[in-house]
Amino acid sequence: MSRFVYVNDRFLRRHEAFIDIEDRGFQFGDSVYEVIFVTKGCLVDEQGHIDRLAYSMGELGMDLPKSPVTISLLIRELIRLNDLTDGLIYMQVSRGAASRDHLIPKGLSQTFIMNTRQVDLTAKSSINEGVDVITVRDIRWGRRDIKSTQLLANCLAKSEAVRAGADEAWMVDENNFVTEGSSSNAWIITDDQVLVTRPPTHDILNGITRRTIIDIALQNNVMFEERAFSLDETKIAAEAFFTSATSLATPVLSINGIAIGDGVVGPITKVLQDQYLVYAQQTSL
Ligand code: PDD
Repeated sequence: MSRFVYVNDRFLRRHEAFIDIEDRGFQFGDSVYEVIFVTKGCLVDEQGHIDRLAYSMGELGMDLPKSPVTISLLIRELIRLNDLTDGLIYMQVSRGAASRDHLIPKGLSQTFIMNTRQVDLTAKSSINEGVDVITVRDIRWGRRDIKSTQLLANCLAKSEAVRAGADEAWMVDENNFVTEGSSSNAWIITDDQVLVTRPPTHDILNGITRRTIIDIALQNNVMFEERAFSLDETKIAAEAFFTSATSLATPVLSINGIAIGDGVVGPITKVLQDQYLVYAQQTSL
């Protein structure tokens, strides 16, 4: 737990921080968030995350709570106060507090909070050794490109995966095509060595890690196709993995109990994982 948190213009000790019980983020999920990966003191893809926060807010008719430069300075101050070297920055902006009403009131003052978590993700066995995945029906709303805090379906999916002895759930649409993970983007590498991930439409979150992995794949001459892939295709995939700020590039060993390839971390996945960390640890504060 971080010692200091940021709440509406103030850095406070964690136990001193409160938000209103009628905050619309709490009552309606009327809020958006971002999670940024920090490794060896490097803040990874900060600009991409701030840009996506602006995008999510814009799609919901909200403005960024501060200028991108100010947000960046606030993040750095929180990192300094918490001596954060490895871990995560969490930020959330809600539309604000008001008497409960489905009608979105005008002129609210936003609730903007940030906290940090110290954890060395690069040392996690799930990321290094891979995990099992199950699939569940995607029951979410139609604007998954907006990083909103309406995450109940995602939480149910993840919990179902863990109950089944797996680590992540991949969600499938009505045509049995994989959309994405409960908190990650889904990827396969086909038998003929083509890296495949779903295009960033309203159906999925356009992951910041996803975009970086595409760049890294292209730089490393990995063949790449941006298209939806079906559950059947995962059964004959050579490799699979998922990406996010919290899972980096996590290898998938099996899906619904069926081994992917040889059931070990695949060679292309390993190259992408390694190159992602090289990239991440070159970014600066
Ligand atoms: N989630 N898809 C979903 C549904 C996600 O929740 C996330 C990330 C991603 C990957 O996005 P990115 O690469 O920008 O982290 C894709 C964060 C980590 C979370 O909810 O904690």
